[in-house]
Amino acid sequence: MALADFIADLNALSAEADASFASAADAAALEAARVEYLGAKAGRLKAVQQGLGKVDKADKPAAGKRFNEVKQAIEAAFAAAQERQSRGAVVAEREAFDVTLPGRPVRLGRLHPVTQTIAEMKDIMGRLGFTAVEGPEIEDDWHNFEALNIPRSHPARDPLDNFYLATAQLTPGESPGAKSLGGKPLLLRSQTSTVQIRVMESTPPPVRIISLGRVYRPDTADATHYPMFHQIEGLLIDRGVTMADLKSVLRLFCQSYFGSVEAGGQDVHVRFRPSFFPFTEPSVEVDMSWTNAAGEHGWLEMGGAGMVDPNVLRAVGYDPEEVTGFAFGLGVERICMRQHGITDIRALYENDVRFLEQF
Ligand code: DAH
Repeated sequence: MALADFIADLNALSAEADASFASAADAAALEAARVEYLGAKAGRLKAVQQGLGKVDKADKPAAGKRFNEVKQAIEAAFAAAQERQSRGAVVAEREAFDVTLPGRPVRLGRLHPVTQTIAEMKDIMGRLGFTAVEGPEIEDDWHNFEALNIPRSHPARDPLDNFYLATAQLTPGESPGAKSLGGKPLLLRSQTSTVQIRVMESTPPPVRIISLGRVYRPDTADATHYPMFHQIEGLLIDRGVTMADLKSVLRLFCQSYFGSVEAGGQDVHVRFRPSFFPFTEPSVEVDMSWTNAAGEHGWLEMGGAGMVDPNVLRAVGYDPEEVTGFAFGLGVERICMRQHGITDIRALYENDVRFLEQF
């Protein structure tokens, strides 16, 4: 074999190897190229080396020298390609995850202040032996009015004061309202007193429940009104229940909620003012007094209460000669707002995280 042919073979191989190493896209491709050219058993360089034996004797030293140069060049090209690849991998990794960036804060949610108030109320009343029960927000005439001793002519049933739902019985052209609805008007409950009826209908006395939930009235929203708000309803039915029991429970409830004087909290009192509700007799408005840390004294209207009217007990099949009871219904938002010093009920429902995350 002529020296020139041998050297031409070597040069061609070197150029091919360079190109292969340079174009290897990843570590696996590079390794495959290494095996192809530098493989100890079947590598192409090895094949060319076999040609060395066929070179004319006189040319052997020159051929051997050139072979070694090309071998080193191919090995160097491989090493360079390997270097390039590992550097590239590190750079890519750095670009995907910049360890110098500040961490992303974990955004923890929290319970809405009204939900917190509800949970605390359930807790306190639970310790006083009251079980929390739920009732539907869509109610019928019977549970929202009739069984609660609210007669057909009562202004509380006025379509303008309630969210009546248009039902199937509504004939075309009629406006949705109590009178225009046939058989069974449905409405978004205007009070949680509905749950009193539902519980008593399904449970024999004694009864000791609270119910916390949403109620709906078509009020224009302002600082103290909102068309949806929450009430806590309480009902205790047993033998020989009196108004003294009612006042004790309400005082304990308020005292527990707003904290004891000993704990540095507020000294809470409860005041009854004569009132009227169709479902209680006698009926009272409940005010709560407190003296804050600064020594300031005030009264907060909390809601209504009274001794359950015998007509209500009869409506659910109880015997008013056997059992008596008290009931109360308080505004949850009011208590929540008093606790946190919130002055506008609308702030609770604007869903502004900057406001809500303070609680
Ligand atoms: N349901 C009444 C209202 O929404 C509040 C109320 C008053 C509830 C007296 C009662 C009660 O249970 O005894 O205005």
